[in-house]
Amino acid sequence: MCADAANYARLGGRVKDMITEIQPIQWRDGKLRLLDQTRLPAEQVTLDITSYQDASAAIREMRVRGAPAIGVTAAYAMALAARDIKTAGASGRGQFLDQLRQAGAVIAAARPTAVNLGWAVRRMLDTAQAEPDWKQLPQRLLDEAQHIHQEDIAINRRMGAAGSGLMPDGGGVLTHCNTGALATAGYGTALGVIRAAWESGRRFRVFNTETRPWLQGARLTSWEFQQLGIPATLLADSAAGMLMRKGEISCVITGADRIAANGDTANKIGTYTLAVLAHENGLPFYIAAPISTVDLSLASGDDIAIEERPAIEVTHFQGKPTAPVGVTAINPAFDVTPHRYIHGIVTEAGVARPPYLESLKLALEGRRG
Ligand code: MRU
Repeated sequence: MCADAANYARLGGRVKDMITEIQPIQWRDGKLRLLDQTRLPAEQVTLDITSYQDASAAIREMRVRGAPAIGVTAAYAMALAARDIKTAGASGRGQFLDQLRQAGAVIAAARPTAVNLGWAVRRMLDTAQAEPDWKQLPQRLLDEAQHIHQEDIAINRRMGAAGSGLMPDGGGVLTHCNTGALATAGYGTALGVIRAAWESGRRFRVFNTETRPWLQGARLTSWEFQQLGIPATLLADSAAGMLMRKGEISCVITGADRIAANGDTANKIGTYTLAVLAHENGLPFYIAAPISTVDLSLASGDDIAIEERPAIEVTHFQGKPTAPVGVTAINPAFDVTPHRYIHGIVTEAGVARPPYLESLKLALEGRRG
């Protein structure tokens, strides 16, 4: 019996009936409002953003993070750009679209790995191109951003329903990084699947990694599970193998930032390690991600650009050094898990199974893979 079993029993395994849904992204009074994820869990600070440049900076500085959440933010950033072009008095459709494309290039470059960023920018540009009256474009693009926002929440709920049957009744589920409401427009991807399983009455222990070096797991996922009333146990990333070996884990589920056509999946650094450990211990390893995360233009994970973040995120914690001055550090933010380690990819169209070359294509066509 695990250490917090008494706490687990006391909470009685009830997802809180009435929770105030976490809203990481809001549009209010003509402003983009972002819950600053660099400040959680100590403080809940909201940033008011009024320009696409500030929205891009918020993505780069990880004030908003998680692949779907940065996609939604990028869509609003395009709407903000369109509003500014209008006020600057662009003199025609061509000029308007040129300036919008330039803003899109800046926004899409904020972080390289998550496909959702470029996907959202492209969708907004396509929307702009399809609108015949360029003077309507600022409102048309805001409507589209709000549509993408609401659509993401609905997709996550569908993904939760599609994946909840993969979760055990009894046993333990391990997750990595933060894939909850904070990483999306709401509800979450992998965390959404865990939540949906709990809401459907399944009971299992939840384990979440710290997720070094940025601590998305310790700071954000632990906080979200507390808000939901789902008891979760935090562990150092390096404790996962030992727990699996002891039989505490029944399956692993994580999110994704980009999935290549063959199912190779880029996700938070450390995901590959967990997938190999799951394989070694005979445990299923699942991914949960919206179809917009699938990038059929890439044949395999070798083609996915991996973001390198500043070394200071490894050598320091909250501005204080945790390593000797002058030490060399590397900070790849993501890794790629080869498809052979992945037992299923949960999307809003159902659970895609190997061979992914076929099942992901079917999922993209809106059919069950
Ligand atoms: O660097 P981050 O915090 O943006 O990385 C987030 C992840 O790796 C998530 O697992 C992924 O984006 C899926 S989020 C639903």
